[in-house]
Amino acid sequence: MRITMIGSGYVGLVSGACFSDFGHDVICVDKDESKIAALEAGKMPIFEPGLDHLVAANVAAGRLRFTTDLKSAVDGADAVFIAVGTPSRRGDGHADLSYVYAASREIAEAVTGPIVIVTKSTVPVGTGDKVEDIMTELVKDHPVAVVSNPEFLREGAAIGDFKRPDRIVIGTEDERAKQVMRDIYRPLYLNESPIIFTGRRTSELIKYAANAFLATKITFINEIADLCEAVGANVQDVSRGIGLDNRIGKKFLHAGPGYGGSCFPKDTLALLKTSEDYETPVRIIEAVVSVNDNRKRAMGRKVLKALGGEGKGKTVAILGLTFKPNTDDMRDAPSLSIVQSLLDAGVAVRAHDPEGMAAAKALMPEIVYCRDAYEAVQGTDAVVIVTEWDVYSALDLKRVAAAMNAPVMVDLRNVYPPADAARAGFAYSSIGR
Ligand SMILES: NC(=O)c1ccc[n+]([C@@H]2O[C@H](COP(=O)([O-])OP(=O)(O)OC[C@H]3O[C@@H](n4cnc5c(N)ncnc54)[C@H](O)[C@@H]3O)[C@@H](O)[C@H]2O)c1
Repeated sequence: MRITMIGSGYVGLVSGACFSDFGHDVICVDKDESKIAALEAGKMPIFEPGLDHLVAANVAAGRLRFTTDLKSAVDGADAVFIAVGTPSRRGDGHADLSYVYAASREIAEAVTGPIVIVTKSTVPVGTGDKVEDIMTELVKDHPVAVVSNPEFLREGAAIGDFKRPDRIVIGTEDERAKQVMRDIYRPLYLNESPIIFTGRRTSELIKYAANAFLATKITFINEIADLCEAVGANVQDVSRGIGLDNRIGKKFLHAGPGYGGSCFPKDTLALLKTSEDYETPVRIIEAVVSVNDNRKRAMGRKVLKALGGEGKGKTVAILGLTFKPNTDDMRDAPSLSIVQSLLDAGVAVRAHDPEGMAAAKALMPEIVYCRDAYEAVQGTDAVVIVTEWDVYSALDLKRVAAAMNAPVMVDLRNVYPPADAARAGFAYSSIGR
């Protein structure tokens, strides 16, 4: 199969590299010349574990190429995947589909034969219909099918997720397109990953329903954590106690500072907008969005409380800036709200993150970036663990305490047992225990 991937970001690049690893002939396209130049020079524009080796092996095998020239990349392709961004539209929270429609028009103008257009970007219900309208208007001589194929990979574990997905969802009624999609994903269903064929609108909604459900699970345990603090219970034990019930499941039951990242915040908002447009409220998700927004701000207040209620003249070390470990993605990371609320209260902030500092510097130029955790805590009045990177899980706590002005730790990921922190001399607070 000849596959063209439009958009070589977190999803496009991982999907393109994995498809080439299955043996398909793949071209990844991006408008961003610096991204393509980096890829051509063998440098990864994003941090994703294992991606550099996967890309290098498939480039060397001649199955994976990169270009900024969409027209030549679409020429002769069996399938063109759209994997461009769909961020929240500024002001109203609707998904901004301008990149999807712009890419669709460019693809339509470049089509030279029968083709299947596959939307991998997360797009609201009905977007596939509009992409199809664009194709009908601009492509006269060739059959074009428009398919929805949402992506469920997680940053930080993206290659494993792509190669061993829980399921593959394909939304189309077109028999030719179904066959092309079967051929593309054959290596996966030989491994017994289930493929769900469904209508295009249903497929589009499955992605939003999945992300909204996961955001709900996180928000649920976060509220239970607050209740644990109030009643003197332990949220980690509650999570275990409920998660071992197969009907509930263990995953996404880790209490923390609130969900962030490039998907849940924008996708929950976009689902609310769809529900408004169709006058069908999804009140659970309304509550989830509002509880999560409040929570991120509350985390800033929690740190101030640990500082004794006064921020002026104090310095805080933040460990972990990305929204989760093993990525460099800073989009909607809880650290952004926490740092902002500390700066607003007059606190000086020092920070470390293993992979996210380059992106963080552009978003938070006011803070001091450090080489490692030990440099970050130097002379500070509190240390806050915001992201549970492995490197923060076995710190020499006595060394950390000794480097600080005052040994205060706010552990927003429950990395340390309270007794260990106390033994090192910390005034320690965590989430829900
Ligand atoms: N990041 C994730 O974990 C994840 C997981 C599942 C689904 N998704 C969805 O996948 C989509 C892409 O997300 P991402 O995180 O990869 O975004 P991203 O911002 O990392 O990448 C998008 C890329 O598309 C490029 N682009 C935009 N318009 C283009 C055009 N006309 N031609 C060529 N390139 C173009 C941009 O330059 C950018 O490099 C979004 O809809 C997102 O919701 C993301």
